[in-house]
Amino acid sequence: MSAALREELIEEIKARVDIVDLISEYVPLKRRGQNYVGLCPFHTEKTPSFTVSPGKQLFYCFGCGVGGDAFTFLMKREGLSFTEALRRLAERAGISLDEKEGATVFGFRREKERLYQIGALAARFYHLILLRHPSAAKAREYLRYRRVSPEAVKVFELGYAPDSPRALVDYLRRHGFHPREIALAGLAASRAPEGSFDRFRRRLMFPVKDASGRVVGFGGRSLDNSEPKYLNTPETPLFRKGHHLYGLHLAAPGIRRQGRAVVVEGYLDAVSAWQHGIDNVVATLGTSLTAEQARELKRYTEEVVIAYDADAAGRAAALRVLEILAEMGLRVRVLPLPEGKDPDEFLQDHGGQAFRQLIEEAPPWLVYIIEETIRFHDLADPNECVKAVQKVIPYLAKIEDAVELDNYVRFLSRRTGQLESAIYEEIHKFRRREKRKPRRFIPTDNIQNTQRIADTTFQGPEIYLLYAYLADERWAKHIEASLGTDFWSLPEAGIIATTARELRQEYPCLEGEDFQDKLSRRLPPDALPLLARVMLKEGQEPLESKALEEAIKSIQLKKWEEEIRACRRSLGLAETAGREDEVKKLQARILDLARNIKNLKIGRGEN
Ligand code: UTP
Ligand code: MN
Repeated sequence: MSAALREELIEEIKARVDIVDLISEYVPLKRRGQNYVGLCPFHTEKTPSFTVSPGKQLFYCFGCGVGGDAFTFLMKREGLSFTEALRRLAERAGISLDEKEGATVFGFRREKERLYQIGALAARFYHLILLRHPSAAKAREYLRYRRVSPEAVKVFELGYAPDSPRALVDYLRRHGFHPREIALAGLAASRAPEGSFDRFRRRLMFPVKDASGRVVGFGGRSLDNSEPKYLNTPETPLFRKGHHLYGLHLAAPGIRRQGRAVVVEGYLDAVSAWQHGIDNVVATLGTSLTAEQARELKRYTEEVVIAYDADAAGRAAALRVLEILAEMGLRVRVLPLPEGKDPDEFLQDHGGQAFRQLIEEAPPWLVYIIEETIRFHDLADPNECVKAVQKVIPYLAKIEDAVELDNYVRFLSRRTGQLESAIYEEIHKFRRREKRKPRRFIPTDNIQNTQRIADTTFQGPEIYLLYAYLADERWAKHIEASLGTDFWSLPEAGIIATTARELRQEYPCLEGEDFQDKLSRRLPPDALPLLARVMLKEGQEPLESKALEEAIKSIQLKKWEEEIRACRRSLGLAETAGREDEVKKLQARILDLARNIKNLKIGRGEN
């Protein structure tokens, strides 16, 4: 089996097998905070130190140090080889590893293929109902009322899910699909005793397609104000909300040609834009743009225009994504829609040409941030004015290009009436402060967690460093700038750090769970217990720069102490052999090191 295929298979299994369910079959688990705990099955204990994290899909025993993922658990608990564990878990995940077709073609590949077929058939089915069936008259009427053209209905393959308990399920079964597959595709509602029901009923259907136009899921809009307004396909092997972009398969050529993508919030906004001749628009699926979607866009273009609804929710969503996008190296602008409007309404009122004009005029994201900040401050009040400026300073301080910075400073000065020189002064102050303190980063998980939990299990600074190293790339860089790359004394720590560094180089924008996920998949099994141990501590151990500096210092100290011992040994040898030059060099080095050590200890108040 090729490595890529194996990785794909493991990924698929991990997505489908819940480690908490699996381990619960062997060990009674109780919820504690974000994790589950129980008595460790690998050593005897009276109080539970065996911890399972549903979020990270890892387990670790703080008593005996056994840890890993679902595979590790099964191997250790049942004494299986990796391949045997793979088989067992594949079976559990409902993936058949087809013997007949040899080791290269897996059932799950075929299964995905079948899910694509189901999606295509379902979209077709809904579409034909919308066009022809009497029960879809209300839906057709609604589309006319929303002024969606017949061409748009066709191009987006809009459809209607009829008000019938099993119309689609029966249709798919007649086409040879098993109820289990239909459920896996997310098209059947929870299974009733008498068989499955259609998940979508009495809804206007928007098929969500991937970049190559294959149906991966659906959004279904209610037409009678019933909740939810949009019902979406749940997570399936093909469908993840934060991953797909609605309309991308249609917009991709336009995005490439114009060098620019426009991101809207609603399915109907995307449809409406297309209908008005704007061919570079995609919609997110009910979440604000994720890093994953941004990365996808980056494959087509360098510039993204955010066109979210001009209401509180839309503005909040925009604020959440702007900095992420900019940090990914995308040029980001924000479309200034009139208050209360969404792109569809604007297009209906003013037409495509006016919308294009808005796109051309969309200000860069920093101007948007400045305006948004100012909105909430009364500039007539000098105190408020200073506050508004202060809020924007951190953004400006990051701008490296002097000309660009000057533009923004002038803009801010004009908007607030503050002197440019005063704004510059604040920027410099901010930069100096930033330089002095080591990069501060608090993972959001930990913001509320101010209480420091007594550190009985986080043995040693090295683990703490590894934790910081994985939590944020900036911290990783800081650690390597201080200690180099080969200071880890635990070999697994070295492997984990190296792998993390490689991953970050390979995928510059990978972060959070995506990052942890890829990391755990790429590591050799030997390194998994340590990874689990470090990651399961996350969220309990506040990451703070002071503690990090302490950890760096103690590793530094250990390094120097080791070196000084080695130098002393060599010194003895060199003296006996009468190698004068070497003796001098070693003595000098020993003096240096001794001084360093002393200074470091004084710095820590340990003289
Ligand atoms: P909107 O409520 O703005 O809907 O949600 P819309 O697409 O603009 O539709 P109209 O114009 O009001 O008819 C924006 C997007 O958020 C997701 C959908 O992807 C929707 O297109 N959403 C919204 C959901 O997933 N579920 C909901 O209940 C509501
Ligand atoms: Mn909307």
